[in-house]
Amino acid sequence: MKVWLDGELLDEAAARISVRDHGLTVGDGVFETMKVVDGQPFALGRHLARLRTSGERLGLAVPDVELLKAGVKALIGAHRRGDVARLRITVTGGPGPAGTERGDSGPTVLIVGGPLKQWGGSAVVATAPWARNERSATAGAKTTSYAENVVALAWARRQGADEALFLDTRGNVSEGTGSNVFLVVDGTLATPALTTGCLAGVTRALVIHWCGAVEAELPASVLQHASEVFLTSSTRDVQPVGTVDGRGVAAPGPVTVAATAEFARRSAADLDP
Ligand SMILES: Cc1ncc(COP(=O)(O)O)c(C=O)c1O
Repeated sequence: MKVWLDGELLDEAAARISVRDHGLTVGDGVFETMKVVDGQPFALGRHLARLRTSGERLGLAVPDVELLKAGVKALIGAHRRGDVARLRITVTGGPGPAGTERGDSGPTVLIVGGPLKQWGGSAVVATAPWARNERSATAGAKTTSYAENVVALAWARRQGADEALFLDTRGNVSEGTGSNVFLVVDGTLATPALTTGCLAGVTRALVIHWCGAVEAELPASVLQHASEVFLTSSTRDVQPVGTVDGRGVAAPGPVTVAATAEFARRSAADLDP
């Protein structure tokens, strides 16, 4: 496959990134993942806006939107329709000296495509034994420092679960390792507020907007009595959850069915909502 690296379309095997890249050495980078539908990236405007916000949080110079849009278009155009069904844009601190301080050679910018993962039906989730730190310097930014998520997801898999859910440091439900979470609590569709340190998911924002969900600080106890639970992410859209910490939940229940249908309808009607 082709990749787009620092303004150039290259064969993947020919693309080279410095062994001193700060993204590689210390996880100093930000990224976005989006799906590609009929040759068009879904919600590109929202993803590029969040990439910029994440970059600002890290003090990283994210390139101009038009340059990134041109890179995305070039990458998709270089492949057969359907071969790029998901796409990732990564911006790192670029080559730097050993240690934590960033170098001054400018960012590395990379766009890579690939197939979309199939998520299957309903998910099993388990509450992770580690917290999402809502007071972290990078809370809410989509950084390449994903080791916490890697560890928690591997833990979930060992429990027979598909996704781990983090609580924040105060015990409120926050998010999954690669997803936001929605719960039906006392008949109301709710999702953890951004104050819990969760990512401002693009899918989350659209579900709030299109399906009228409320944002709230939800204590961990809601996981034991929510009548429905679902996950959202750019590659999943809406995925029902059938088991939460060993408790069976209707999957999909009526609110999840309605949210899935509304998301499918609205997203098909507008690829850059
Ligand atoms: C930690 C985390 N939370 C939430 C999400 C969902 O965000 P989005 O809907 O923008 O894909 C992701 C996506 O990968 C994620 O990694």
